[in-house]
Amino acid sequence: MSTIKPFDPFRSNRLVYRAVNDSPGDEAFVHAIQRDAEAQSGSSYGLLRPESMQASKEFKEHLGKSLLGVIICLPPTSETEVAGEPVGILCLKANPPSWAAHRWTDISIDILKQHQGKGYGGEAIRWSLWWAFQMAGLHRVQIQAFSFNTGAMRLYERLGFKEEGRIRDHMWFSGSWHDGLIYGILEDEWREGQRLAGRDLTSCV
Ligand SMILES: CC(C)(COP(=O)(O)OP(=O)(O)OC[C@H]1O[C@@H](n2cnc3c(N)ncnc32)[C@H](O)[C@@H]1OP(=O)(O)O)[C@@H](O)C(=O)NCCC(=O)NCCS
Repeated sequence: MSTIKPFDPFRSNRLVYRAVNDSPGDEAFVHAIQRDAEAQSGSSYGLLRPESMQASKEFKEHLGKSLLGVIICLPPTSETEVAGEPVGILCLKANPPSWAAHRWTDISIDILKQHQGKGYGGEAIRWSLWWAFQMAGLHRVQIQAFSFNTGAMRLYERLGFKEEGRIRDHMWFSGSWHDGLIYGILEDEWREGQRLAGRDLTSCV
């Protein structure tokens, strides 16, 4: 049995992670993410349509039913705040209970446009892998990308994901067919990556 010191599991170097609340503020934030058509075209198979408040509410409810659905935030700026400005959403899919033996999940992530390209997406995915393997005891984490989302693909490879499959012509978008890419990382690969990077696995920073 190893000794573990208490720590805050809902933070990484520059970010904090909190639950999605039933509040007008969170409703507006989820809608701001969901109505960004450019982001949705890079991350969703859904037919591109102007996002209604109702559709965003349904997505928010789906987040609440996920294995992990969090708002990615900057750290609080005052002692009274629980978390600071929201910058994105991260979700680990819940599989049906009868699939529990397989111990895998799927990540989806969206960073608000004005906060993209600052390293937040990579940091949040890294944190979610720590949570998935160290906290939830999963064996495999998967993430998907469309073949035109080359920036996201590079990021996933840098984070240690391996391309495991390419589903040809999986998506009809803007007048042409695009492939769907499946990336995955296994528990042992993640642990080895952490060991090589000299990271302490008992906390998430
Ligand atoms: C993809 C995404 C999650 C990455 O998060 P991020 O905080 O922007 O990325 P980071 O700053 O941690 O990492 C930078 C990498 O992400 C890529 N990236 C940055 N902005 C991006 C964008 N708008 N869309 C796709 N990839 C982007 C960059 O190309 C960069 O890789 P590079 O340096 O090799 O070019 C985020 O940009 C996003 O939410 N995009 C829109 C929705 C989306 O594509 N979701 C992923 C579905 S697979």
